[in-house]
Amino acid sequence: MLPYQIIEQKAQGDVLTDTAITDFINAYTKGSIPDYQMSALLMAIFIRGMNAAETLALTRVMLDSGERMDFSAAPGFVADKHSTGGVGDKVSIPLAPILAVLGVHVPMISGRGLGHSGGTLDKLESVPGFNVHLDLKSWRDLVMQENVGLIGQTGTICPADKKLYALRDVTATVRSIPLISASIMSKKIAEGIQGLVLDVKTGNGAFMQTVAEARELAHSLVSIGQGYGIKTTALITDMNQPLGSAIGNWFEMKESVLALQGAGPADLMEVTFALGAEVLRMADPDLSQEAAIAMQHQTISDGSAFEKLLKITELQGGDPKVLENLEAYPQTRFKRSIQADHSGYLSQIDTMALGFAGIQLGAGRRVISDRIDYSSGMYIRRKLGDRVAAGDELLTLYSNDESALEEVAQQMPQVFTISDAVPEVPALIVERIE
Ligand code: URA
Repeated sequence: MLPYQIIEQKAQGDVLTDTAITDFINAYTKGSIPDYQMSALLMAIFIRGMNAAETLALTRVMLDSGERMDFSAAPGFVADKHSTGGVGDKVSIPLAPILAVLGVHVPMISGRGLGHSGGTLDKLESVPGFNVHLDLKSWRDLVMQENVGLIGQTGTICPADKKLYALRDVTATVRSIPLISASIMSKKIAEGIQGLVLDVKTGNGAFMQTVAEARELAHSLVSIGQGYGIKTTALITDMNQPLGSAIGNWFEMKESVLALQGAGPADLMEVTFALGAEVLRMADPDLSQEAAIAMQHQTISDGSAFEKLLKITELQGGDPKVLENLEAYPQTRFKRSIQADHSGYLSQIDTMALGFAGIQLGAGRRVISDRIDYSSGMYIRRKLGDRVAAGDELLTLYSNDESALEEVAQQMPQVFTISDAVPEVPALIVERIE
């Protein structure tokens, strides 16, 4: 079948055959189908969806587009965590070293910013020299030696996802259960892991805005993982406000360091420890939830998790001194403070708008070739349910682009709703799916 016919079929809402999906994706990965036809198919999938068999076929062809790692020689449990994406979600950065210190092998393959959401790779690269493009042998050696290695999709691991991810990022085709499922699970299965915990975000800063959609995505991800013999669970967690306070690559790296130094925001720590406990209890089913949380606390209070992050940074070519001397990082030239115009309770935050504002400030890409300004971003100063007085600072914006900063500053008052009544604040951890 011609690519045109496959696009047409999906645009009409038909179910695609395994062969049609496989041929199309393989041809795109090789470069014989251009971006414009792939974009059209992505949009058709985005609008029409895919059933479980099509999603599985898409996952398989993306997985088979590259190599699969083998960690069967690792002495400990081999596991990973992955988030479906949110604003200020930097959990992977503190969690990977925590788990590594506790004996879990974490071969983490992460993504870049996607749509309005940030990406772990961009955050890591805010540390000068940090190399997320290790060759697979060096990465494998690192995971075997240090229990953790942090890289991105390579030309040889899920190259199909690498190309598709970048294309989805700029064609508004991210928010799709089959596309997210195949993207995440192809990378995770390729890692050769035994266990996986998924952080499925829900709320106005997530790709899945309702709990029902998040639940559907969680079930899709968990069933693919389990089908491949990986112990997989998911936590649905709230993204109706940014996680922690920092949004933007260096700011999030800095907040991750503070988390490992015992000064992390409460919400970030709660989600980090809850996800970590899932992995630790997969590794040792006799471990209680309380013990799994306490072990993680210990890695922070004894400094071992931070030491691990420094070591990994150094071994991946980054400058660990940057993480030890947080205040020396280059600052943006411009800064703007956004204040409450009346008093009351902070009852709503348009979290997705904050994510897109971050991109405008320079923290993300508008087109694939954009370069990121790692120092730009923002700090949110109040959280949902907080009492605020007129004039209180809600947000501080940072950018090297003065006109973008002004533009964003104009939009920000609409992002915050302040009401007279005390609002109901959504639970942080909404549901567990296994
Ligand atoms: N994370 C991924 O790796 N892929 C997606 O599509 C969404 C989040």
